[in-house]
Amino acid sequence: MDFLTFFILLLSFIWICILFQTLNSKHRKSGKLPPGPYPIPIIGNILELGQKPHLSLAKLSKTYGPLMYLKIGYLETIVVSSPEIAKDVLQKYDHVLSSRSVPSAAMAEEHHKHSMVWLPVENQWRKLRRICREQMFTLQRLDASWDLRREKLQKLFEYVSQCCVNGQAVNIGEAAFITSLNLMSATLFSVEFSEFNSDSSQEFKDVFWGVMKCVGSPNFADYFPLLKYFDPQGLLRQTKFYFGKLFAIFDGIIDQRLKSRGTQMKDDLLEALLDLNQKPDPELSRDDIKHLLLDLFVAGTDTTTGTVEWTMSELLRNPNKLLKTRNELQDVIGVNGLIQESDISRLPYLQAVVKETFRFHPIAPLLVPHKANTDIEINGYVVPKNAQILVNIWASGRDSNTWSSPDSFMPERFLDRKTDFRGQDFELIPFGAGRRICPGLPLADRMVHLMLATLICKFEWKLEEGLNPEEMDMSEKFGLTLQKVIPLKAFPIKL
Ligand code: HEM
Repeated sequence: MDFLTFFILLLSFIWICILFQTLNSKHRKSGKLPPGPYPIPIIGNILELGQKPHLSLAKLSKTYGPLMYLKIGYLETIVVSSPEIAKDVLQKYDHVLSSRSVPSAAMAEEHHKHSMVWLPVENQWRKLRRICREQMFTLQRLDASWDLRREKLQKLFEYVSQCCVNGQAVNIGEAAFITSLNLMSATLFSVEFSEFNSDSSQEFKDVFWGVMKCVGSPNFADYFPLLKYFDPQGLLRQTKFYFGKLFAIFDGIIDQRLKSRGTQMKDDLLEALLDLNQKPDPELSRDDIKHLLLDLFVAGTDTTTGTVEWTMSELLRNPNKLLKTRNELQDVIGVNGLIQESDISRLPYLQAVVKETFRFHPIAPLLVPHKANTDIEINGYVVPKNAQILVNIWASGRDSNTWSSPDSFMPERFLDRKTDFRGQDFELIPFGAGRRICPGLPLADRMVHLMLATLICKFEWKLEEGLNPEEMDMSEKFGLTLQKVIPLKAFPIKL
């Protein structure tokens, strides 16, 4: 391309951007936008986000307040950083603020047209939510599939015991990942996906992390609409590749199930989904089923894994709290027994530990971005139509107006505080709230407590020789989920 062509293209690009911006602001009802840092023409406030947007936005909100306006390229963005405004967004105005800005990468294989995560709040989304609620996450359904999960916990226990015998360190994130994957695959379609120490688990991990990375990475195509057609970072292409791998696995499982259906009936989600697919007037297509399975696996594995790894890291840094958790577990379930799901309600200290991790290390620090369907006024400011809305729960979890000593890990704060995490108490909403609240919450709640109890009840944990627990690296890696940069590895000692 010669210089003149490049120059003309650049001018046209700038002109279209300015036109787009002007048209955009003309559609807005009159009203004052929330305060925020001054946006540079074209790129907006992109440079202010840095490597850890949750942290940069938390700092900015100290200057501009809990309702803030930024432009990320051309994407108008509202950032909410207090429980009061989160309540307005996720409860009072939930009916107009529950849509999604779809990232370009989520359009791979037309995923956004089938996906519960990315569909707008319309009939297809309602149907998928209802199916999951009724077929998977009711108390009875979850209780009925407990035996399948029990086996997977037993395997985690055996793996850690073997590491004790071998004097081998456990990579806690990896062990939790394999267990999460198997707990999910057992609950969804009674199949074990992965084994400890096997190449297949690494393959799965690569695929899931690939999807999370592609969909969660900042993508210029999302901030500059014209770039959508060029996929400049190749994220759409890579997502297609990872989706293809997962769909091939799901196709295999569905075909196998369809073959064995006449002879063997299973009581799991896949069976219920196939019933809906095989009706004379099918409620779900085969594609709908595959996209739903993809959503559940991707949304359910990394989140639970990360929460377990953060909790274990905090407990290893705080040996007294680890001891307190173990003592409670041994009192309730005994030194020799394995935890039952029904034990969780009798473990107030473990529950407080998990709540504290949700506050201190929320795995989805900005939730999943919402989108405004219309202009709406909040706190005297206008939230413009089509703006993406980020609820910075990382910031509100560390706000000294709400929490005493917010930078310390103190599960005790929840022992006499009735705060819950199921979407009613807006100072602690790790699963979101309102229409879009995480549908997997009832299963996630069980998975996290069960894995932690299995890791803690019968094992003492030691870091590698010479590593001081208080100096453990707790750096965060931002993406669709917030993970630990340095994986936690520790040596188990059988009690
Ligand atoms: C959505 C958190 C586990 C499935 C979400 C959202 C959050 C979240 C913050 C977005 C809410 C919003 O948009 O306001 C978590 C955490 C988990 C967890 C902290 C574990 C510790 C799970 C599990 C599953 C799951 C185990 C499935 C089995 C989903 C799905 C959505 C979602 C499908 C999209 C819902 C929609 O957009 O309508 N989750 N999640 N999650 N989660 Fe979870």
